[in-house]
Amino acid sequence: TARRALIAGNWKMNGLRADGLALAKDLAAWLDGEGRDASNRLDMLVCPPATLVALVAEAVTGSRLAVGGQDCHAAEAGAHTGDTSAWMLKDLGCGFVIVGHSERRTDHGESDETVRAKAAAALAAGLVPIICIGETEAERDAGRTLAVVSRQINGSLPEGATGTNVVIAYEPVWAIGTGRTPTTEDVAEVHARIRDEARGRLGAGADDLRILYGGSVKPGNAAELLGLADVDGALVGGASLKAADFQAIASAS
Ligand code: G3H
Repeated sequence: TARRALIAGNWKMNGLRADGLALAKDLAAWLDGEGRDASNRLDMLVCPPATLVALVAEAVTGSRLAVGGQDCHAAEAGAHTGDTSAWMLKDLGCGFVIVGHSERRTDHGESDETVRAKAAAALAAGLVPIICIGETEAERDAGRTLAVVSRQINGSLPEGATGTNVVIAYEPVWAIGTGRTPTTEDVAEVHARIRDEARGRLGAGADDLRILYGGSVKPGNAAELLGLADVDGALVGGASLKAADFQAIASAS
């Protein structure tokens, strides 16, 4: 396919200044050195906690490593204590922002409507939103996986979305941080469904849409997952905190 892979690391709530700086510098140096081949065919992104975004963005300026936020508020500015706007992330040098991660949907009660508003703000600010969707274990057991991801994609895609200005990340909630992954057949089926569903909204642009898989991606399973036709990259949690593991995943794509 003509789609360029995206290997994204979500650091979640991990890292103090020294850790984040060392990891980001290590990855940036790798992309410019031995990982140069990989970087010719893929995009590599790190999403540090909000406290480290400025530091990391400044440290990797001029490298091919992209930086993103883990969440943004739907508004540009205002009385929203503790929140960060998409425009603020853009101002720091971000190119991407994760929205609707299952941990946000669960811990902060984010609905499809909230996620869509955040994704719209990201677009307005000039960021690419990485819109996360995925079923819970109970939904999977009830045979509702395809219905759930269809609902989430239709509810979370903002106005003005195209195949190239948004990214979708499919993360089965039960596979996040558990070491469990769906079978490759299941991943292939869900990703194909997501692209079909996106076609209803994006038309032919759906062929350009990057659909990432997330949930216990490790060096050992990356090649198999990333080799699937509709898997255009990975959203990596735990394994993105170790430079060697994250590089191995990028090399496998
Ligand atoms: O955003 C990343 C995902 O939630 C996956 O996390 O790789 O630790 O399972 P994980």
